[in-house]
Amino acid sequence: MDLGLKGRTAIVCASSKGLGRGCAEALAAAGVDVMINGRNGETLERAAEAIRERHGVKVTPVAADVSTPEGQHALLAACPAPDILVNNNGGPPFKDFRELTRGAMLEGVTQNMVTPIELIQKVIDGMAERGFGRIVNITSLSVYMPIYGLDLSSGARAGLTSFLSGVARTYAGRGVTINQVLPGKFDTDRLRSSFAAAAKAGRDPEAAAAEQRRAIPAGRFGTAEEFGAACAFLCSAHAGYITGQNLILDGGLYVSAF
Ligand SMILES: NC(=O)c1ccc[n+]([C@@H]2O[C@H](COP(=O)([O-])OP(=O)(O)OC[C@H]3O[C@@H](n4cnc5c(N)ncnc54)[C@H](OP(=O)(O)O)[C@@H]3O)[C@@H](O)[C@H]2O)c1
Repeated sequence: MDLGLKGRTAIVCASSKGLGRGCAEALAAAGVDVMINGRNGETLERAAEAIRERHGVKVTPVAADVSTPEGQHALLAACPAPDILVNNNGGPPFKDFRELTRGAMLEGVTQNMVTPIELIQKVIDGMAERGFGRIVNITSLSVYMPIYGLDLSSGARAGLTSFLSGVARTYAGRGVTINQVLPGKFDTDRLRSSFAAAAKAGRDPEAAAAEQRRAIPAGRFGTAEEFGAACAFLCSAHAGYITGQNLILDGGLYVSAF
């Protein structure tokens, strides 16, 4: 399907690896010039080179921490008038909620709620003036279904979702959409690190992974490629009537009729 995005520009945050990378790849495949980001400059440069070579679009790597004002400034300086913004960031580490200090909680809220809102504040009026904008926030299935030890992630991302539900409707009449994509379990470094943590607790990491796979009706983890394809569709010319929605990608893990 032609996504109708050729020549558009996108800021894809936290995209040198994993789900963000999947989104950058899928947008680039649709002819979008992408600004990609990560903190590790080497990993980022390698990703930029690979995307450029594969898809022949303009790829601008910006090595920066997306959650800092300086980082956000660098992203916007490299791509001042994006048509598409994909918000993404690292997630907080697994922790018993009783161990979370006030500082850790404020940091989690900054990373997973305040940062995407700040970026949206900076780009959304330009999108509305130009009559086209697509904003996709990578959140988590934990917004719908708790994951013990990731309570901070769930809370901050649920806060983001509620915050943006009104904003999405405010801009719907001006060609700008805002949606969330909620990953269940995707085969990325972040998921693999949770199996490494299981190994530290004395469990066989492959057995831990197999147990998690079995609990998913699809019988497998998702891939960054399929995540990216869904994100690219929400950014496409065909998705202008989809806004304020939460798209769960989880192989059926969240059990609900609605
Ligand atoms: N994978 C899953 O199954 C899953 C499920 C639910 C939710 N999620 C959420 O989805 C998001 C992406 O996860 P993932 O699995 O794709 O992780 P990943 O494979 O570890 O990739 C994370 C990417 O984000 C970049 N990054 C992290 N913190 C950053 C920051 N402050 N500023 C700029 N770039 C940053 C990393 O590069 P650098 O390290 O070089 O900065 C890397 O490119 C996370 O918020 C995660 O909690 C993932």
